[in-house]
Amino acid sequence: TAAPVPSATPAGAPALPLRRDDPLDPPPALGLLREETPISRLAFPDGAEGWLLTRHEDVRAILADNRFSADRITASSPVRRVTFKPEDRPGLLLTMDPPDHTRLRRLLTPYFTTRRMQALAPRIEGIVDEHLDALRAAGPPADLVPAFTLPIPSLVICELLGVPYEDRARFHAWAATALSLTTTDEEVFAARDALTGYMRELVDAKRRDPDDGLLGVLIRGDNDLTDAELGGIGRLLLIAGHETTANMLSLGTLTFLNHPDQLAAFRADPGIADRAVEELLRYLTIIQFGTTRVALEDADVHGRRVRRGETLVLSLPAANRDPAHFDRPDELDVTRPPSQHVAFGHGIHQCLGQQLARVEMRIAFTRLFEGLPGLRLAVPADEVPMRHDMAIYGVHRLPVAWEE
Ligand code: HEM
Repeated sequence: TAAPVPSATPAGAPALPLRRDDPLDPPPALGLLREETPISRLAFPDGAEGWLLTRHEDVRAILADNRFSADRITASSPVRRVTFKPEDRPGLLLTMDPPDHTRLRRLLTPYFTTRRMQALAPRIEGIVDEHLDALRAAGPPADLVPAFTLPIPSLVICELLGVPYEDRARFHAWAATALSLTTTDEEVFAARDALTGYMRELVDAKRRDPDDGLLGVLIRGDNDLTDAELGGIGRLLLIAGHETTANMLSLGTLTFLNHPDQLAAFRADPGIADRAVEELLRYLTIIQFGTTRVALEDADVHGRRVRRGETLVLSLPAANRDPAHFDRPDELDVTRPPSQHVAFGHGIHQCLGQQLARVEMRIAFTRLFEGLPGLRLAVPADEVPMRHDMAIYGVHRLPVAWEE
């Protein structure tokens, strides 16, 4: 399946998205840039030009350097004409710099520790098993996206936050609109406003009657969070908490099915589940256009002068396939020792939900391949619709069958 959107112009500055040759590999042009032009000009859809960085070392260095701001509310987006509205700012951790970021991150970090997330494992196992039971009861074939990979992280984050799961049809649709490259700016803003309004109402309801979900706990807690911040935090966690993990689950399943030797190794030794999850994160790097930062001052990077106010795009997929950092980077090896992939970012914005995502992936992959023996694609591999058109890569549908 070819990317539906135009890719780089070899003559001028490249533009994202670049075309993939293989659905499980990053665009080959990223590899060439990484080799030859470690800092490249990049053309943005709004007409501005900025920079693209592709090397692991550089991506990590810039993500850890406070001369580059995460406040990109008014910066260029690598794939859209618009990004955020200033009203979207409260609670949007991803776009804040210290000290504002530090204040919110400190408040939230204790709720996402490894220990707390491990404690959710029995409930996550229960949710995974319920969905496997339903799949078996209905029998093959099935589309794993609506039946398994999307509902599991979605139900988990709803329970964690205290968001009614019955409302999922609405927020799944808003998220799909907001993350798509083919929707109009008006549609994106309308979806985001609808989600903001929904969260504000939920926060109002919980102010009156707080429950034990994280939003209720934050409302009751000894902190100075405003309603707008609470709504913003809820919105970010709800979307970041399900879209990402859902796509890792479906794309990871497709990847295992395409690499039977790796699936066999994974099934033979449950002890490597944690490594396998890290390797899938590295290999697939679903934040396919990377992340952006804005230069707060002029800076020299690889001999090029980055000007204050310019936008830098840090290609997480290119960094995670960098041969200068990873041995045999283009090979999927579920036994690979972990070595600082950047699939969750790096530095102060490194993914808040990473421990939750890891627990969900470990449980879901392990139980899926145990619970549906002989799992296979129900369509030819090249007919699986890939998410070329979405900020978070993955599959739109995953038709599978298994032995009953
Ligand atoms: C930040 C990826 C799952 C919540 C990030 C960043 C990346 C990322 C790359 C950093 C972005 C940047 O620096 O600009 C992923 C992937 C996931 C995942 C690949 C799944 C496999 C989750 C989950 C949650 C979550 C399950 C919620 C429970 C967040 C939040 C931030 C973040 C709140 C912003 C942190 C900050 O700015 O301090 N994620 N994420 N993510 N993620 Fe995740």
